[in-house]
Amino acid sequence: MDTDRLLHELTDFLRIPSVSTLPAHSADCRAAAEWVKAELRRLGCRDVQFLASGTHPVVWGVGPEVPGAPTLLIYGHYDVQPPDPLGEWTTAPFEPTVRDDKLFARGAADDKGQVFCLLKAIEACGRPPVNFRFLIEGEEEYGSRVLFELLQREPERTKGDAVLIADMAYIAPRWPAVYTTLRGLCYAEITVRTARSDLHSGEFGGAAPNAHEELLRLLGRLKSPDGKINVPGLYSAVRRPTKAELATWKSLPFNESEFLRHRVQAKALTGLKRYSVLERLWALPTFEIHGIVGGFTSDGAKTVIPAEATAKVSLRLVPDQKLKTVERQLAAAVKRFAPRYVQASVRFLHGADPATVKVTHPAFKLLDQAFREVVGRGTVPARAGGSIPVVPALGKSGAPVILTGIGLPDDRLHAPNEKLDLQQLWDGIRVFRRFYELLGSKG
Ligand code: BES
Ligand code: MN
Ligand code: MN
Repeated sequence: MDTDRLLHELTDFLRIPSVSTLPAHSADCRAAAEWVKAELRRLGCRDVQFLASGTHPVVWGVGPEVPGAPTLLIYGHYDVQPPDPLGEWTTAPFEPTVRDDKLFARGAADDKGQVFCLLKAIEACGRPPVNFRFLIEGEEEYGSRVLFELLQREPERTKGDAVLIADMAYIAPRWPAVYTTLRGLCYAEITVRTARSDLHSGEFGGAAPNAHEELLRLLGRLKSPDGKINVPGLYSAVRRPTKAELATWKSLPFNESEFLRHRVQAKALTGLKRYSVLERLWALPTFEIHGIVGGFTSDGAKTVIPAEATAKVSLRLVPDQKLKTVERQLAAAVKRFAPRYVQASVRFLHGADPATVKVTHPAFKLLDQAFREVVGRGTVPARAGGSIPVVPALGKSGAPVILTGIGLPDDRLHAPNEKLDLQQLWDGIRVFRRFYELLGSKG
C-alpha cells in the first residue's frame, strides 16, 4: 500500500473546512463535494452527479457495472462540525498533522477519513467486485434534511442489496463492531420572554421577572438531579434491551470507572444510577443543554434584567420513540412548566428518528470474516449513542444497513484535537477491500 500517497490525498480532503452549519463555509462544502466527485470519477463511476445542489450537494455516483454481482450502496458525509474552541487544538483543525502515528484534523474520523477508507478500499481492489452506488452528503452534521427529502422523492436511490456506512468506531482497540441501533435526536431552542425590553436592575430589581432566572427554573424542572427527564410521556415508548442483549454488554471490554477516568475525565458520572452506564449511553433518552444565550455576557459589568433568554437543547431518542411525538411532548412540557406570566416558546431546528437494524443478513457474516482475517477479531454487535438522521430512510427498501467503522473510542469527535489512528486506516482499507471481494464472490 502506498501510504505516503494516501496520506497526502487524505490531507488534501481534510484541509477543506467543510463546516455545514456555518453559512460562511458554503463554498468550502462545495469544494469538498467536488473532491468526492473527482474521486468517484477516478474510480470509474459511470454517472457522477450533484443532487439537491441548492444547498451543500449530495454526491451521487454509480460505479462500473459488474454483471451478476450484488449492489452495495455506500453512504457517508463530507461535512464536519465547527472546530471551536480553536485555542484548544495543539495544531490547527484544518492543517492536518501527523503525531505519534495519528492524523489530527477536524473530520479525520468523522467522517472524511472513513469515507476515504471506503473509497480507497475500492481502488485497492483494482477492478470493482460489486456494483457500487454512492450517496455522500454534506449536511449530516446539520440534520440531513436535504437528503432526507430527496430520498422521499426518489426512494429508488436506495435500491440495492446492502448499504454500508463507516461513521462509527471500534468499541475498544482491536474490537471492531457492528451497530444494531442508533439514537435519534430532537434539537430545539427554548425561549423565555418576561418583559417588553431589558430593565435597569436597580430601578426594577426585586419586583420584575428575570428571563434567565425563569429559563433556568424551567430547565431545572425538565430534568431532575438524578437524571430523570420530566417530559410527561417521554419514557412510555422506550423499549428495554432484552436480557440477552444486556448480558452481551456485560461481556464487552467496557469498564465504567475507566470510562470515567480516561474518556469523560470528570469527577463523577451522572444519570439514572439504576441502569448500567452502557444502558444510559445506548438505550435511554437524554436531555442536554448545549448553550444559553441572552442577557449581558460581554466584558465588564452591566446591571440589567434581561427580558429574553434562549437555551439550545436536545434530546436523544431510543427505539421505539418517535421524533414527532417527542416534539409534541417537549412543547407541552415547556408550556406546562413555565409560569403564566412568562412567554415560553419552542422552536425545533432538526431531528431524527432512532434506527434499528437486524444484523442477521448474510452480508454481516462476510464483514465479520473480513475483520477476522485482517485484524484478528470479528465484529461484536453493539449499540451507538450518536445519530445518523437518514439511516431509517436508507433501510426503508429492506436492504440491510451495515453500521460499522474504523474509529477508536478516543478519537474526540466534534471536540478539539479530533484524530484518526493511521493503523486503523490502513487496516480498514484492507478490511473493506476483503469485504467487497467476499461480497462479490459469495453475494
Ligand atoms: N458519526 C456521528 C454519529 C455517531 C457518533 C454515531 C458516535 C455513533 C457514535 C455523526 O456524524 C453525528 O455526529 N451525528 C450527529 C447528528 C445530528 C447533528 C443530527 C449527532 O449524533 O449529533
Ligand atoms: Mn459522522
Ligand atoms: Mn458527527
